[in-house]
Amino acid sequence: MRSEQQIQDALRNYEDVDSWKTVIFLYNAALKEVGTKLEILNEEFQHVHRYNPIEHIKTRIKTPESIVKKLKRNGYETSIENMVKYINDIAGVRLICSFTSDIYRLAEMIGNQSDLKVLSIKDYIKNPKESGYKSYHMLVSVPIFLSDSVVDTKVEIQIRTIAMDFWASLEHKIYYKFEGNAPEYISRELKECAQMVSELDDKMLSLNDAILECAMNDVQEEEHVAVEDVAEHVLGSREKQKALQFAHK
Ligand code: GTP
Ligand code: MG
Repeated sequence: MRSEQQIQDALRNYEDVDSWKTVIFLYNAALKEVGTKLEILNEEFQHVHRYNPIEHIKTRIKTPESIVKKLKRNGYETSIENMVKYINDIAGVRLICSFTSDIYRLAEMIGNQSDLKVLSIKDYIKNPKESGYKSYHMLVSVPIFLSDSVVDTKVEIQIRTIAMDFWASLEHKIYYKFEGNAPEYISRELKECAQMVSELDDKMLSLNDAILECAMNDVQEEEHVAVEDVAEHVLGSREKQKALQFAHK
């Protein structure tokens, strides 16, 4: 893969510094690039549609302990080469949204960024994990411009709703408590909770749609404003579509 060769080359250029530091420096730079990109997309969306698709953004660099653990778990020797090649989530960004529809809206916006390369997508919303885990994962690479070279660096982006994040955070804690060997009934109940969380997400989305429809009605009645104008100025594109559909019923 091109980016791995680039990182190897970059390491050679930094012979005087510790190569571990160089790699971590690249992943930190990649996190900053992607984090800023996402903040800009969110602000642009707020500016145009008066709506924030992102509730909040979390970023993290995997700790050296977890990198070594993951390499061992997957049967690789601990080396910087293996870490760059086989560990895709050294730089991680988590985007938390209000509604499931925001997730696909964001994924599309990320996919349309011409300087990001989407390396792979895992849609655990359409295909939840056995545990009940739901989230949308994108592995992207971002070019990092150094003084004498450009290095494509991988970042894992996880996109999920507040409800999915709530479930995943608690499940993760419980999983760790049992060191991966939770009793069967605990796993079963966690899966039931995941189902409840999905129902909650669906309900919140339809409630939001209903609230928007009511708001459109009120504005129309009180101000006699053309519904298209209100939709254009007050709502995001999906909400606008819904409102217009409703108004034309
Ligand atoms: P990892 O070795 O865990 O990174 O898995 P992978 O390389 O096959 O990637 P995958 O997309 O399946 O999962 C990557 C990340 O998703 C994990 O590091 C977790 O953050 C999250 N994740 C995946 N499955 C679960 C799950 O069952 N529960 C929780 N809480 N998080 C999960
Ligand atoms: Mg991981």
